[in-house]
Parts: sequence; structure tokens; C-alpha cells
Amino acid sequence: MNILVLGSGGRESALAYRLAQSPRTEKLYVAPGNAGTGLWAENVALDPLNFAQVKDFIIENRIEMLVVGPEDPLVKGIHDYFLADANFRDLIIVGPCKEGARLEGSKRFAKEFMQRAGIPTAAYSVFEKGQLARAKAFLRTLKPPYVLKADGLAAGKGVLIETDLTRAEQALDEMLEQGMFGAASEQVVIEEFLSGMELSVFVLTDGTDYKILPEAKDYKKVGEGDCGLNTGGMGAVSPVAFADVAFMKKVEDRIVKPTLAQLQKDKIPYSGFLFIGLMNVNGDPYVIEYNVRMGDPETEAVMPRLKSDLVELFIAMHENRLHEINLEIDPRQALCVMLVSGGYPESYKKGFEVKGTQAVAPDTLLFHAGTKPDSEGRAVTCGGRVLGVVSLAEDLPSAMRKTYAEVEKIEFEGVYYRKDIGKDLCR
Ligand code: AMP
Ligand code: GLY
Repeated sequence: MNILVLGSGGRESALAYRLAQSPRTEKLYVAPGNAGTGLWAENVALDPLNFAQVKDFIIENRIEMLVVGPEDPLVKGIHDYFLADANFRDLIIVGPCKEGARLEGSKRFAKEFMQRAGIPTAAYSVFEKGQLARAKAFLRTLKPPYVLKADGLAAGKGVLIETDLTRAEQALDEMLEQGMFGAASEQVVIEEFLSGMELSVFVLTDGTDYKILPEAKDYKKVGEGDCGLNTGGMGAVSPVAFADVAFMKKVEDRIVKPTLAQLQKDKIPYSGFLFIGLMNVNGDPYVIEYNVRMGDPETEAVMPRLKSDLVELFIAMHENRLHEINLEIDPRQALCVMLVSGGYPESYKKGFEVKGTQAVAPDTLLFHAGTKPDSEGRAVTCGGRVLGVVSLAEDLPSAMRKTYAEVEKIEFEGVYYRKDIGKDLCR
């Protein structure tokens, strides 16, 4: 089978790594890919948002499976685009249609959906442009910290958490009235602050049947001890000790099953990954957000643990027979440390050669993210998150030791990484 993966980050590197191992895979392409995906796949210079260009490539290269890595093409309707064309009836598409992608594309839609389904989530209210006074009045009825969320996609930056009321009111003004996130913040969800440990749960589903993949924990803050600015993710671990059988049963019964039941009730077809970001509040899961794709950098920790054939899983999803699959999971601890450009998530320089990757132990995985090959084929930095380093070991302290020993071998100008990924979970 010929497969095309859309995207260029660490997530797509990890997906490509797994897809390349399937005996079902004949030709694997990643568009546009990065300096690392070339190891497992052929990079092609396509823009994932240029659907017509993707379509031409699919026809010319007889692609039978399209795996959509990021949310943008899904929210903009790439699945619907192919569904509308009878020539692509047999194309296996991993990722939902536009309507299902609203679970990620609109915070308001997601909150109203959860409310209809009775899914545990933070209490909230929604305000639109022109309702600033009412929004501020509502804010004053809440206790800090204040959680403000732009309704639409804002490149992962649309959530503000403010401890000070005046700053929160100011932020609300900037979001609703000054277009802080453009059209995305013309509606703002204000919600109750939940405190606890976060967990990322991944479900592969055809809308009815589902498989819960290994869970992960992401480290979003740039600084050690979870301080500083939010990032796309500085590292991840899988499994996560507190997500034991009893906790995951609550997640399945209170969140996964009601989510799928509500999708069916609302007549929203769904096929692909559903990523549930949740908070463990005193042993009970509350949904923070839905995403309609895999997480990044969680995928880099999850894929190395997935022993089942990923291509088979996608085919089973397409043929509505996920129930026939017995997931095989590596019980070992995976740990991913992201190496980022100095200055990230604020401004940073690009174009530095990534050195030392050859010296990394063969049982450690390198998932390139913000890299591209230069004219001589060397990997140079081209983004904030540059490279994920992943090891598997018997327990968390060993996985930390092993991963960090390899991380130290890699260099590029300004390289920065958190030295405490996994530390909070070590007992
Ligand atoms: P999101 O973009 O919805 O994932 O939000 C970004 C981050 O903000 C989350 O990963 C949480 O760390 C934090 N967050 C979002 N909503 C809440 C909430 N209601 N209570 C506490 N933290 C939150
Ligand atoms: N790691 C969080 C995300 O992918 O949204």
C-alpha cells in the first residue's frame, strides 16, 4: 500500500517511523516532512493546505492511505474534499471530517458538545465580540486563576491563564475587541480553573468502535519545574503511573464512551485519532480539551510503545473492524526530551547545523521536528522544537538516565532542553 503522511513535525516523524515498519507499506511519503523523515519515507514538497496539490499527488502516486498529522487541514475540510469526489471512495483517510474536527476547531462547540453529553469538564460561559462588559462582570464572579480561551485555532497560544483580575480583564478586552488572535478570539470561553495533573489520552476510532492507545503526559512549560511560558511541548512520557486501570476505566466510561455516543446522536461521522486532554482532579478525570489528531510530543513517546501494526490498525478503522484487533503494547517506559532553539517559544534564530546525531546509541530514537536538509543534505534547524530524543527502559529513572545520556551528544547553536522530564513522576 502507498501511504502519504501530511505534516512536518516530530509527530509525523514518529508516525512515519511506525508506518515504515509495516509489511503492508510499499511506498511511504511525508509532505513536506523534515530532515529526519527522509530516513523512513520520501519527503515531498506539498503544502498540506493545498488540497488540489495533495489530490494530484495522490492520483499520480496511487496513494491508498492518507494520514493527516496536524489539525489545520482537518479543520479546513481535507477529509470532506476527498469524500466529495467519487474517485476517492476507497482512499483510507485518517482524520475526521470538518464537522468532527470542530471538537478541536471551536472551543465553544466542544464545550457545548460535552455539556450535551454530560461529560465532566470545567464550568464555563461564552462571550462574543460586543459583550465585553458582560464578560468582565462574569469574570468578577469567579475566583482566580482565570482561564480565558479563544474559540478558534490560535496555533496553540489561544489559552490564557491569569491570576490577576485586572490583567485578566485587559486580556479579555484584547481578545474580544482588539483581535488578539484575529477572528479566533471573537468568541471567548471563560472557564473554571481545574487543578491537578494533566494526561493525554489517545483514541483511534471509526466513530463507533475504538481502541485506546497508550496514554502520555506532556510537559508544556518551557522551564524546569513547570515554570515560564507555554510551549508546544518540551517532552513527554508514556506510560503515566497515575493512569492506572481504575483511572482509565473512569476515562473510558465517563469520557470516551459518552463522546462517541454523542457523536452518533449528533450524526457526526468520525474516523481517525481523538486526543482527549484531561485533568486528574482528585482521582476524577475532567476534559480540558479535545484534539482531532495525535499529540506532539506525545506521539514520539506513544508510537515506540505500539507494537501492533499501525497500517493494519488504520485499515481496520476504515473497515469498521477495530474490535477484531488486540492491541500489543510495549510495557516499558518511553521518555521523550525535546531539544529546542534558544529563545523558543519567543523569538529564536534558525539555520544552525544539528551535530552529533550519528553518535547516538542505536536503541535510542531521534524524531526530527523543526529541521530541514540544507543543500548538502545536513540537518539544519528551521523551527522552535528541533528534535525529540526518545528511549525506552524498564522504569522512569532508567529511561531518564538513558535519554539524557544521548541528549548530551547532540549539539546545535543555542540548544536548550528541560533537564527534568519525568522527574515529577519518579517516586
Ligand atoms: P488547551 O489549549 O485547551 O490545551 O489549554 C492549554 C493549557 O492550559 C492546558 O494544557 C492546561 O495546562 C491549561 N488549561 C486549560 N484549561 C484549563 C482549566 N480549565 N484549568 C486549568 N488549566 C487549564
Ligand atoms: N502536546 C499537546 C498537543 O499536541 O496539543
